[in-house]
Amino acid sequence: MSAYQLSIKGVSVSFGGFKALSDLNLQVPQGELRCLIGPNGAGKTTTLDLICGKTKVSTGEIIFNDQPIHRLREFKIARLGIGRKFQVPSVFRELSVRENLSIGMSQEPTILRNLFRFGDKANAESTERLAVLVDLQDELDRPAGFLSHGQTQWLEIALVLAQDPALVLMDEPTAGMTTQETRKTVELFMRLKGKHTLIVVEHDMGFVRDIAETISVMHQGRLLAQGSADEISQSAEVREAYLGSGGMGHA
Ligand SMILES: Nc1ncnc2c1ncn2[C@@H]1O[C@H](COP(=O)(O)OP(=O)(O)O)[C@@H](O)[C@H]1O
Ligand SMILES: [Mg+2]
Repeated sequence: MSAYQLSIKGVSVSFGGFKALSDLNLQVPQGELRCLIGPNGAGKTTTLDLICGKTKVSTGEIIFNDQPIHRLREFKIARLGIGRKFQVPSVFRELSVRENLSIGMSQEPTILRNLFRFGDKANAESTERLAVLVDLQDELDRPAGFLSHGQTQWLEIALVLAQDPALVLMDEPTAGMTTQETRKTVELFMRLKGKHTLIVVEHDMGFVRDIAETISVMHQGRLLAQGSADEISQSAEVREAYLGSGGMGHA
């Protein structure tokens, strides 16, 4: 058994002639909340796309729970326990929060006939539990289209958690959130870590400082540095990488 739940080993990805990732190595142990940062174009989103199978590796391998996953189709990777929260909202706006969660918990979330499982007591209890986790328990009967931006993001997170993935991938989950919503998201992630492994791509160094044990910094398709928030913000090569790309946020 590997000490890591996820290992990205020597991975390269080319888009046409352009190398978006080159010889990327990244390991994440089970239960960790790992933050992935780096200037625009560093390859962060591509890395998440690779893990969930949306993009395929050109060379290298990805091992999840001791199993190679880099040749598997996206739905198979999802079934192995890797959940991805996308930036584009995927909730059903006309359906209530409860209905969205109920569909999310079913085995085939895209099939609307799952709505008939409403009478199911176990389903009702898990729906409520999920709603409480993301603080939407008072919104269960509202159409999802009426939720605030932050609440919609939490519903999206709840829909990923509904499948109980061992590893959760999130790309800039706090983008567009108010300070208060961001703070609540920090609290949510702190509650999720341990039970789930989380890889969170973030821009805001303030947010990263609050939540991460280890921060991985990417630059030009590689892992540039890794360490605590203090180690990262003092690193000369990290500072240099961020020069000319808008700085390091609240570092
Ligand atoms: N489908 C694609 N085709 C061509 N180039 C791409 C594609 N996806 C990403 N890239 C390029 O790969 C690099 C890494 O992109 P990305 O992973 O989105 O960076 P980040 O999320 O760190 O900002 C960028 O230079 C981007 O323009
Ligand atoms: Mg990105």
